[in-house]
This record gives sequence, C-alpha cells and structure tokens, in this order.
Amino acid sequence: MRSAKHRIGIFDSGIGGFSILRELFKSGLDASYYYFADQAYAPYGERSDGEILERSEWIIRQLLKEQVELVVVACNTATAAAIDQLRQLYPDLPLVGVEPYINIKNQSDWNGPDNVCVITTPLTGKSSRFKSLKQRLDPQEEVDHYSCPNLARLVEEKFNNPTIDITSSLREELLPLMEKGYHGVILGCTHYPLIRQEIEAITSMVTISPCEGVAARVVQLVGECDLKVPAASDSTAIFYFRTSLNSDSGWEGQLAP
Ligand code: DGL
Repeated sequence: MRSAKHRIGIFDSGIGGFSILRELFKSGLDASYYYFADQAYAPYGERSDGEILERSEWIIRQLLKEQVELVVVACNTATAAAIDQLRQLYPDLPLVGVEPYINIKNQSDWNGPDNVCVITTPLTGKSSRFKSLKQRLDPQEEVDHYSCPNLARLVEEKFNNPTIDITSSLREELLPLMEKGYHGVILGCTHYPLIRQEIEAITSMVTISPCEGVAARVVQLVGECDLKVPAASDSTAIFYFRTSLNSDSGWEGQLAP
C-alpha cells in the first residue's frame, strides 16, 4: 500500500476532534492521521489549565514519535488553556487550534440569525484567551455566552454506549438557551458538532461550527495544492487511533469517522 504524503497528529479529550477529522477526510488531503483521545482525563472542561498543559505536552510527545509534521489541537478547551505555552515549547512544530467562530457575525455575507449565543465548556468560558477573543470579535457584546456543564460528557457517553437515549438530558442541558429564545448557536467545543442535528432538532436553532475552517487551515499549512478527489464517501479511508483509557494500547487503524 502506498504511504500517504503527510502525517498529521490530532488530539482531544475524547472523540470531539472527530468533528475536525471528518472535515480533514473530506478535504482530500493526502495524509495519515494519528488521533489521540485522552478519555482517561475527559472532560477537560472541568480540569485546570496546568493539568491540560501537562496532558497536551505528553500527547504531543506521543504524536511526535509517529513523525507527525503538524498537530491539530482539536479541542477548544486545550486551545484556550494551553496553545500559547505549547507554541513556546514546540517552536518548530505547526500547531492548529480551534476557537468558536464568533467572527461569523462580522462576515459581510452572513445572512443567519441576529440573536446568537456561543456555547463552550466551563473552562473555555473562564479562560482569558476566550474572553479576549470575544472582546475583539464582538466588541458590542451582541453575542451572549453560556457554559454547558455536561454537554461534552453526554456526547462522550453516547459514543461509548450508542444504545442510551440522551434526548432528555440534552433537552435539560439546552433549556437555558431555549428559554432565552436564541435563533442561532455557535458551537465552541468540538464535541458539539457531533450532535448538531440533535441540537437543531431540540432547540430549532441554527448551529455554527468552525470545523471546516480548521481543516482548511491545516490544508493551507501543509501547502497541499494538488488535493486528491475528496474522500468523503471513501469508506475505506483509515486513521490511527489511540486512547489513554488503555495505557498499553498502541495505535490502531480505524475507519473514517
Ligand atoms: N472537545 C473539547 C472542546 O472542544 C473538550 C470537551 C471536554 O472534554 O470538556 O472543548
């Protein structure tokens, strides 16, 4: 089998980064992906900045053993808590983070709803990186912010046990947004786009995700102009997966999410 041209590392507290991995597959980038899910330490939204920095550093070291040329910090919480220090620690390694797409309201072609809220994990919401992003992109404070205490955890539970019905827990978690009557919600955690259909069905809100833009940035950084035919429907596309739940596990091939 011909080996891929690029090797990309990607990590999250769990499966949230699949929302970016999916877009990377769609981009047709000629790459092998090494995806680390730090499920033993999830959810990151309840941890401290120091813990997240320590975990991120450890994970990046594991990814570098696979000779990745770029790492996607596929987690808003880890981006908010640690990406600045990680860039100092690894000055030669391109790192692509993810932040809520607050800027969408400033786009001239935005024709979505006006009353929009951004939702994040508790730690992202408290972070100075998020606060300054919000101030910079939304100086008039037109976008409200709400921290969801359990939403990422619910997505993770559903993934680990697909037979459970999380609809009523989702409804309870999203009730504060419905009570405010927002028409749009900016998804500020990579777990949320994985349930965007459920969020839209429960709340009737339009959901806004940055994942496509993050994938486009990765493609731009690896400098790949001659993309292959988009692999979206290529069910044989694989990536390498590792979870911290089983500390002895190596990288296992998995089908595209
Ligand atoms: N998916 C992550 C994010 O984008 C982290 C969720 C969590 O573990 O709390 O924020």
